[in-house]
Amino acid sequence: MTAGGPISRSGKPAVVAHRGASEELPEHTLAAYERALADGADGLECDVRLTSDHELVCIHDRTVDRTSDGTGLVSEMSVPQLRELDFGSWHPHGSSASVLTLRELLTLTLDWRRPVRLFVETKHPVRYGSLVEQKLLALLHEFGVATPPSADHSRAVVISFSSAGVWRVRRHAPMLPTILLGDTARLLGGSAATAVGATGIGPSVNTLRQNPDLVDRAAAAGRVTYCWTVDDRVDVQLCADLGVRWVATNRPAKVRDWLVTVD
Ligand code: G3P
Ligand code: CA
Repeated sequence: MTAGGPISRSGKPAVVAHRGASEELPEHTLAAYERALADGADGLECDVRLTSDHELVCIHDRTVDRTSDGTGLVSEMSVPQLRELDFGSWHPHGSSASVLTLRELLTLTLDWRRPVRLFVETKHPVRYGSLVEQKLLALLHEFGVATPPSADHSRAVVISFSSAGVWRVRRHAPMLPTILLGDTARLLGGSAATAVGATGIGPSVNTLRQNPDLVDRAAAAGRVTYCWTVDDRVDVQLCADLGVRWVATNRPAKVRDWLVTVD
């Protein structure tokens, strides 16, 4: 297995655009997600937070400081206030962009010309606690994607580092796939995923490098593996070799190219 070597066809992972095509364009903007879809991503990943008027918006940090021209806590701002900010120009290749709501991202994902999966990450601890999952499930119900026939056929996946968050989704929407994220093998290799009924585990790529057996152990328990954030060819190869189902990457076009050029 070398950085420039072929990527095996068997067990080829599907590509999830992490925050959109976020290496090329500003994360969590419509442009970054449209680019990822045009590049052929199989899935899209986003982080969500609740605003003061209880809308879910796609923002990673607690504050808007890093990714906009404004300052302040997302939880203390309303959508109209967020709409006044520019979420695109901070990026070297970005131009002016509005905040993206989860409603808008769901619309884009579900209207796309081929089936694409949306991986929605709920952040915790947060001011609004369980209201985040409550609002998320209400929105997924509204879009008709909260009760898929099976995890494999689901257009939405809820992912979280919070075992309580995963459990809330499992309890109220048992058919929705869920992934318990973690950056320690102790958590993901133990009984935590079983306890909360997660259908998958989500180790960081560092954790996976050090604990490659996690994938087989998850599979033995009927769970898939979602690995983040996989931006290097050698790690894509590792994930393919191990049978990782989903790789989340900031560079979906490159990762797809690496996966396509197999022997
Ligand atoms: O997809 C999981 C990954 O996004 C978790 O880390 O901090 O980038 O949300 P973070
Ligand atoms: Ca995330």
